[in-house]
Order: sequence, then C-alpha cells, then structure tokens
Amino acid sequence: MPDEDAARGLPAGLDSAVVQRALLAWYRRTARDLPWRRDPDPYRVWVSETMLQQTQVDRVRGAFVAFLEAFPTVGALAAADTEAVLRAWEGLGYYRRARQLQAAARVVMEEHGGQLPDSEVKLRRLPGIGRYTAAAILSIAHDRPVPIVEANSRRVLARLVGHDRPVGTAAGDEPLWEVAAGLVPRRRAGSFNQALMDLGATVCTPRQPLCGRCPLAGCCAAHATGRRDAIPAPLPRRAVIERRETALVVVHRGRVLVRRCQAGEWWEGLWDFPRLPAADLVAPLSLGRRREIGRFHYTVTHHRIDLRVVSCSAMRAGPRAGRGVAKRAWVDARALEELPLTSPGRRVARLVPALLGPGRV
Ligand code: ADE
Repeated sequence: MPDEDAARGLPAGLDSAVVQRALLAWYRRTARDLPWRRDPDPYRVWVSETMLQQTQVDRVRGAFVAFLEAFPTVGALAAADTEAVLRAWEGLGYYRRARQLQAAARVVMEEHGGQLPDSEVKLRRLPGIGRYTAAAILSIAHDRPVPIVEANSRRVLARLVGHDRPVGTAAGDEPLWEVAAGLVPRRRAGSFNQALMDLGATVCTPRQPLCGRCPLAGCCAAHATGRRDAIPAPLPRRAVIERRETALVVVHRGRVLVRRCQAGEWWEGLWDFPRLPAADLVAPLSLGRRREIGRFHYTVTHHRIDLRVVSCSAMRAGPRAGRGVAKRAWVDARALEELPLTSPGRRVARLVPALLGPGRV
C-alpha cells in the first residue's frame, strides 16, 4: 500500500504488502528448523533470543536444548544454583547474559506470578531485556506487530532501502527500526521477523549475497543500484590491544588451584587459573620450579591475549578458604569438570589430567 507506506516512513516505491507476501511465502518454504521454533512460548523465546544476542545459531542449538532440559521453566531457572546456570552457559560466552537471565527469572517469580509479562514496558524493566529482546518475545511468542532489528535483519533492511550510513550502534540503527516498523505485518509478525533474520543469515549474507535466490531482489535498492557490497557501511574498527599473560597451574596433592573472577573483572563469578603475578594467592604456597605446558591465543572484545600456561607444585595448600580467600579453591580433576570455568580456563583445564599423576609436575 504505497500511500500508507510513505506515511510510515518507507522509501517511495517500496510496497510493504509486496515485501510481506514475498517474505512470508519464502519463509513457509525455507524456514530453518530450530529447536526454539517448535514451541515458541515466551520462556523459550526469551532464553533463545538471549542466547542468540551474541552467539551464532549453530552454537546455540545444542546449548538451548540442554539449558531447557536443566531449567524447563522460569521457576526452575529462578530456583537454580547460579553456578549450575553459569555451567550450562559454557560455550556461549558473555556470561553476564546468564546472570541477568536468572536475576530476571527471580523477578518474574516474585513480581509477576511466574508469567513473563506481555507488555514492552514491563519486559524492559527486567534485567537483561532490552528493545530487541522485548520485541522478539512480543512478536514471536505473542504475534504482536512489533519490529525488530538484529545483526542479520539489519543488513537485509539496510540493503532493501539503500541505507548507506554506518549501522550497528543504537543511533546508527534508528532509521532501520523505522523501516522495520513500516514493514512488519499486523498478523504473523513473528514469522515475518524470523524470516528477515533467516534471509540475512542464509541469502543476504555479508559477502557474496545470493541475490538470485532472494525473494526481495525485485524491490531491493542495493540490488537495483549495484551497491550490495557497499551496504551496510562498516563501523570504524577499534584498534586491537595485544597482551601477554601467564596462567599458573599449581598442583598440590592431586588438586589444582583455581580462583573465582571478582566483580569488575571479565567473567565475574566464573572460575579461572591464577594469572601471574597473583601474589596474594601464591605467596603462601612455597611454589616449586615452573614448567611451560602450553600456549594459546584468545580474544575478548578488542583485546588479543597471548597466554602462556605454566605448571608447578606447591609445598603447602595455604590458608583455608574463608574470609579473604573465598575467591580460591583446590579442586581435583573431576571437580574441575563440574566448575563453571572461563573459556581460556576450560582450555587450560584440558592440560590438567596429564599433570595429576604422582610425580608429574
Ligand atoms: N537470531 C536471533 N534470533 C533469531 C531467531 N529467532 N531465529 C534465527 N536467528 C536468530
């Protein structure tokens, strides 16, 4: 409906009804079979969308199924031990999401009778639920005509209307939220939104998009003007900061020393191996000679860390855990498996079983 569309802020010539029809027909044929789509109740949509915020679909598939088995309801998640929730989040990264998910589940139990609210205002008052997640829950679980913009649909929308300014920040994305609002249908909004995401993930890809297979090629501004590779414009890159660190695997009587990441550190609440100098942790232990047992790189946001892993034995276990030392623990190989570890910590942990035989360090 072109007149109405112009009033809704869509570019001239872009007919929302044409886009809706083409995209929904394409989605009926090609929708990906993803576990959270089988029964899109609000809790499942909320968990899956939280996982999908910064993690690829292929990683989320298995983690979602395991998470729902461990915590099948909001009540189960609210009542769970936080360490178990963090452990179930392993492999997804950005653990703050897991902590906020549980904090929000507790609010839902205490203030909303165990039902996730179905208004944007109330949803957005919950920890970790922002504009995108609220819109995904409302459109996918409740079929409300609410737009969404996320990593994949952002690219589709920008190309569709020929939006050639940088996107990917709140201000940069604002014009695309308006486009999405102008396009979303009154019914089947959840399918429409997920179709946009699937189209971005499988057809309208960042490089070499498959325009020959795109249901929207006929109305796409970037396609018509040969600008598909220039849109969306990239955000200026942050410089990468390189750093060297050393992780220490201290062994004492078949157990290794781990420390809990504290508030204000990356990975708050997760466990890791002490990083040198770690004077407060290792000074009381009388450490033996150090031996390098591994080395790898990992990246956190724009930091690239070159991590050396060294092992040594400790003559003493040091003071008992308690005030001031609650942030550390001695664990055997089995307990290490169960502990929610940071992702580099998990890589270091794989080196531990070989160290724990007698006289191995
Ligand atoms: N990315 C974020 N949410 C998604 C969803 N519901 N389906 C597919 N990809 C997604």
